[in-house]
Amino acid sequence: MSENSVELFSKNWSIYQKIIKHNYMFHRDLGVITSSVWDNHFQNKETNVLDLGCGDAYQLSTIMEGRQINSYTGIDLSSAVLEYTKENLATKKISFSLMSGPMELEIDKTEKSYNLIYSSYAFHHLQEEEKLELLKKCYAKLDAGGVLILIDHFKNNGQDRDNYIDEYVDNIKTNWGEITSEENDLIEEHMRGYDFPTTEEQITTWGKEIGFVLETLPHINHCHKLFVLKKY
Ligand SMILES: C[S@@+](CC[C@H](N)C(=O)[O-])C[C@H]1O[C@@H](n2cnc3c(N)ncnc32)[C@H](O)[C@@H]1O
Repeated sequence: MSENSVELFSKNWSIYQKIIKHNYMFHRDLGVITSSVWDNHFQNKETNVLDLGCGDAYQLSTIMEGRQINSYTGIDLSSAVLEYTKENLATKKISFSLMSGPMELEIDKTEKSYNLIYSSYAFHHLQEEEKLELLKKCYAKLDAGGVLILIDHFKNNGQDRDNYIDEYVDNIKTNWGEITSEENDLIEEHMRGYDFPTTEEQITTWGKEIGFVLETLPHINHCHKLFVLKKY
């Protein structure tokens, strides 16, 4: 993976902020679920958080505010975006450590273990074998009783990538009213070049093979989903 693959995020972070503001990728709904998962597992417990593909950490920093955070480590491929991350975390008075580079490799350089690993809308940038390897690394990095919260968009079983992206792009054109046609083009170009979504079935199979126990949660819709994978 190169910085080119995240150009949409590095140079056009305002587009992603617009997507969050208008809840087009359901960040508000996902935030409510994440908060409740957090409280179920970690209420009154100090939490060591690892955020893979953290972006500006806007969403997670809002959830972390007021909770007991012992440490927060964020990894992102885009050093430009990490400048926004610093601001967001500093405003919320969360002490942090940030790493710039591919999460699938940088995770090996983290020194501690974690009780919460969070990754939101970043896994789909990896190829299938990289996703599996990263899931294994997450398992190894988690303490017993720790959880991986994995948020992403997913293809249907048997659906081919081009068909999935065609459908997603159609949905943007129909339902993302505040996105201009120029922004649309940038998003489409990014998706066609760099998005490789997997399926729910694949995550479930990999998760069980690795040793995770999956908690059943309502998904947001047929493609935007949140998984909780627990290590006992
Ligand atoms: C759609 S944004 C998600 C940001 C944030 N996690 C959220 O949910 O709002 C995807 C982020 O993943 C980062 N990214 C893409 N591929 C990556 C990789 N291999 N390693 C680390 N970060 C990556 C991008 O730079 C971008 O900041």
